[in-house]
Amino acid sequence: MAENSANNIDNLLHEARRFPPSDDFANAAVATRELYAQGEDPVAFWGSQARGLLHWHTPFTPERTLDWSEPPFAKWFDDGELNVAYNCLDRHVLAGNGDRVALHWEGEPGDSRSFTYAELTTEVKKAANLLTALGVKQGDRVAIYLPLIPEAVISMLAVARIGAVHSVVFGGFSAESLRSRIDDASAVLVITADGGYRKGKAFPLKPTVDKALEPNADGQESTVRNVLVVQRTKGDVDWHERRDLWWHDEIAQVDTEHVAKAFPAENPLFILYTSGTTGKPKGILHSSGGYLTQVAFTHKAVFDLKPEEDVYWSTADVGWITGHSYVVYGPLANGATEVIYEGTPDTPHPGRWWEIVEKYKVSILYAAPTAIRTFMKLGRQIPQEFDLSSLRLLGSVGEPINPEAWVWYRDVIGGGTTPVVDTWWQTETGAIIISALPGVTTLKPGSAQVPIPGIAIDVVDERFRSTEADQGGLLVITHPWPSMARGIWGDPDRFVETYWSKFGRTTYFAGDGARRDRDGDIWLLGRVDDVMNVSGHRLSTAEIESALVSHPMVAEAAVVGASDETTGQAVVAFVITRASQADAAAADDASAVLRAHVAEQIGAIARPREVHIVSELPKTRSGKIMRRLLRDVAEGREIGDTTTLADTMVMSVISNTLK
Ligand code: WTA
Repeated sequence: MAENSANNIDNLLHEARRFPPSDDFANAAVATRELYAQGEDPVAFWGSQARGLLHWHTPFTPERTLDWSEPPFAKWFDDGELNVAYNCLDRHVLAGNGDRVALHWEGEPGDSRSFTYAELTTEVKKAANLLTALGVKQGDRVAIYLPLIPEAVISMLAVARIGAVHSVVFGGFSAESLRSRIDDASAVLVITADGGYRKGKAFPLKPTVDKALEPNADGQESTVRNVLVVQRTKGDVDWHERRDLWWHDEIAQVDTEHVAKAFPAENPLFILYTSGTTGKPKGILHSSGGYLTQVAFTHKAVFDLKPEEDVYWSTADVGWITGHSYVVYGPLANGATEVIYEGTPDTPHPGRWWEIVEKYKVSILYAAPTAIRTFMKLGRQIPQEFDLSSLRLLGSVGEPINPEAWVWYRDVIGGGTTPVVDTWWQTETGAIIISALPGVTTLKPGSAQVPIPGIAIDVVDERFRSTEADQGGLLVITHPWPSMARGIWGDPDRFVETYWSKFGRTTYFAGDGARRDRDGDIWLLGRVDDVMNVSGHRLSTAEIESALVSHPMVAEAAVVGASDETTGQAVVAFVITRASQADAAAADDASAVLRAHVAEQIGAIARPREVHIVSELPKTRSGKIMRRLLRDVAEGREIGDTTTLADTMVMSVISNTLK
């Protein structure tokens, strides 16, 4: 069990506030209690959702709703055919909703663009023609490395439209991280921009792509044939003739018509890399029909979406799974009007988010606890300067939301009346798995509450026995679900081993600790493995350790996630430098150099909050680093049981170094 979370259990057990739905909300709610009864037969339930929510070029036969004959490799709606982009675009236009705004995009410097469904459909058709002209075919992989500008959404949908596979790489990742993702998927095309805006400054992206595409250490070229460059900042760029193409030049030359072809339901839709317990990120693979069914269903039911009236805003970047499922595919499949924002919450002023809510009359907001805690610290006077009365529903995702932040969110942002839904899910689950349904569920601050209809979960001990109420255990999913990952790109064995071997091939082990209370509601307790959660982003201790030891100064490194008031967890590293460099006076410098080195190797999100230069690391007799003890040091706690250490003096040596 993750020790840092165990401390919170007592507090959470005493959380007694309850928020039943108001009659008005309940009477008009999209979700109903009957959904749970229907969900008791998951196969029938998801079959009927798939038929009701999506357009199928070729309907699937009921017998082929789920094929679970080779677990854990599920097939959903296997003999059906659809086009994901058609479902997100053309069909809304054909249904007479072409004039509805699909996207309100807000750039950080204050520029903005809006696209109706008709306009977005045309842009995607052109981009699809462009990709085809560049030789991209069904099944090819396209890397997308863009800021949050409309072309990010257009690119993803254009790739989907021609049956190719996108791999979106968050714009904050380094050249090394980008290259390893390009190599792993053998991407043929990169779509990028000259740069984007963040924190009031233009940051360049194209030079990072250039660097990523240089021959690697073994002299090997990348698999990329072309780089398509969107002009965003008009910054200077180096140009590789024959390889590089300006988006605006190329898109001006293609046809505006494009007929969406049908692809099998199991056609791969995207790969998204996420951190695991080892150094190498995993390419989580999702497919089309099942994924789109579950993101559409959850987006509608969990966010109570009324597409004619609501303005929905998820603050996530498309570089993360939330940006895939609840910025692009869920909202657009449902014909929603949504806001996307390029920049940071505090640029140019700390009320930027609330200004955007006021400007677009946002009614549904989906954000991360780390942002909410940051706003809490800044004080309620900032949001109170804006008119937030359009908000009627708030969502949270990415990490546990502590009850105080939940209540603050409801009171200060939601005017004391909006429901707050805390949604638990993962890159691997594709869509929301645990959440209250607004209008149905009585809300409990701090608890993600119940599996959505059609989902079966359990909390079990190491021997796979369901835990008693209020006992901590491991969260598992016990029945396949439509948006489940179809594998790890190129590594089926790792997929089985990571998620489907602890309790057998039909039980999904999520890697999270959880506890069920006496009402049956679920409380998430944090990761049980060496994965950290910093500001809702997953980071692997092993990946950061290997970045640290790649620096010539470093002999050995251990990384832990220490609890942090704002970011949930923060990266704290303990490093042994090589003898020749172990000059105590240089420790401050060394620590700054190593923090920068990690940012350079992986990306700024992985930069450690602290790097401590130490002379030894705590190890067991078998040589395993005892991170538990390092976490005690990092969190300023009394150091726990050291009896299994090979050298019991080590911890006092380390603590003394840090004093
Ligand atoms: C954590 C993000 C508690 C959890 C959608 C999970 C949460 C990991 C919640 C997945 C929540 C996500 N309450 N913990 N509501 N949502 N997590 O893949 O540890 O970036 O395993 O997906 O985030 O992170 P990922």
